[in-house]
Amino acid sequence: MALETQTKTVVGQFDYSDEDVNKGVVEFLRQMAEGLEKDGASMSQIPTYVTAVPNGTEKGLYMAVDLGGTNFRVCSIQLNGDTTFRLTYTKVAIPRELMVAKTAEELFAFLAKQVEIFLRTHHGEHFEAHIRRRMTMSSPEGFKDENVFRLGFTFSFPVQQLGINKGTLIRWTKGFDIPDAVGKDVCALLQTEIDKLHLPVKVAALVNDTVGTLMARSYSSPGKSGAILGAIFGTGTNGAYVEKLSNIKKPLAGEYDNSTGEMVINTEWGSFDNQLKVLPNTPWDVQLDLATPNPGIQMYEKRVSGMYLGEILRLTVIDLLKNPDVALFKDDNSSYNDWKSTTNIAEHSPIYKQWGLDTSVLSVAAADSTPELSILRQELEANLHIYAPSLEDAQAFKAIAGAIGRRAARLSAVAIAAIVLQTGKLNDPEQDEPIDIGVDGSLVEHYPYFRDMIYEALRAIKGIGEEGAKRIRIGIAKDGSGVGAALIALVAARMEKSTSTADFISDLRLNAKKTDLTAVPEDSELAAGE
Ligand code: BGC
Repeated sequence: MALETQTKTVVGQFDYSDEDVNKGVVEFLRQMAEGLEKDGASMSQIPTYVTAVPNGTEKGLYMAVDLGGTNFRVCSIQLNGDTTFRLTYTKVAIPRELMVAKTAEELFAFLAKQVEIFLRTHHGEHFEAHIRRRMTMSSPEGFKDENVFRLGFTFSFPVQQLGINKGTLIRWTKGFDIPDAVGKDVCALLQTEIDKLHLPVKVAALVNDTVGTLMARSYSSPGKSGAILGAIFGTGTNGAYVEKLSNIKKPLAGEYDNSTGEMVINTEWGSFDNQLKVLPNTPWDVQLDLATPNPGIQMYEKRVSGMYLGEILRLTVIDLLKNPDVALFKDDNSSYNDWKSTTNIAEHSPIYKQWGLDTSVLSVAAADSTPELSILRQELEANLHIYAPSLEDAQAFKAIAGAIGRRAARLSAVAIAAIVLQTGKLNDPEQDEPIDIGVDGSLVEHYPYFRDMIYEALRAIKGIGEEGAKRIRIGIAKDGSGVGAALIALVAARMEKSTSTADFISDLRLNAKKTDLTAVPEDSELAAGE
């Protein structure tokens, strides 16, 4: 009984009511405005200066790399000049020690090495030809610029963008902590390491994953107007949206084309409400934050994204385990254990280790609707080494995990709703199509009913309601970040020509009718548009 009561209390602490959601939206809008007014606000609201467009006639080979959090991906796009292309894609896990390396050089040297391996594996001929040319310095075509790959760099951390291929790191997130890199131009860091390996690669564009997602979604989503928001709910969380230039009050350092009156803004909403004015704050949120390399920062992200949800759950479970009156995973009171075996937790169980619980456990718990919760119980045994958990144990675990996931989804709705309201599209008589939002990331892709829970919260929001929620279309833009970066790299060379962001999006959408980039196979080749 104590377990059931205690579980209810814990679940209640993760409750995030309709009223809370509404308060959240009001504050989110306020902090968005603040970020548009001045630098140094909680939400950075970074202008992106994306202005050029592909027209489908480009020829050549373009590359994109994506440093997101867990993995580093490398891809290339062969443009055939007739709007068809060939896409090749690989990914590698980032070694944990490099996330906290002493110097930026260590991490970026690793990244450059992956680019080299990719080139040797997938573009051996081009690569060998480059090496041969290097050896024949006297040859007139020795270092011709067209022999160099243009690379779009998706760098999914807060960066002060100074130009299309220039931006300084503001701070690390998602467990990365290499102070040496902060304040430095990440494109230059990558280019230096690429040059050390003498690779024929030029870092041509710097893109946040949310911007890439917005671009990729805009071209692939049906309809005449593009997506208004690209959002990531994965290891980390963030969103990029299309803002009116007239709302950007802080000075814009770089050059930009103002003919559309719009610019894509990278919100860096992971740091929404670092002050905790409206964000929920349970004892486990406090504990989690203190144990991260960046306490007090990314407070919204720490309640929403995949990197943290497993850890929040782990901390609540540990607290319950410590409580002698609560029979969680203890056999004294698990007398009804229908598996008729003694519950025990192995000493080496990941439940005892910081970051030991992967967020995928929450997905398993949410997906298991068998009466005996047998799938979850098997998961507890196989991955957490918690043996013979009783049905009551599994029910408690599922209830708490569900409450954490639900709170994350409802918090996600706060950001989405605020951006929808900010764009004014719901009241725009010309907006006769769905308001399109592209999302990507493990959480939104794999956590059961995540989008449904977002919609449920959206319906409760003032200014959106049942009718508004129906007009919002949240669609997956799978691997949009890599594709978006490649597309921006593709046009970066034409940046001198001033073409507008709206043209960029509409041209992309035109091309999308001929190609399909929404699903990118890994480690394989795809001939698109054929
Ligand atoms: C970073 C963002 C990024 C997001 C999703 C956050 O931690 O600050 O730049 O877009 O993660 O990857």
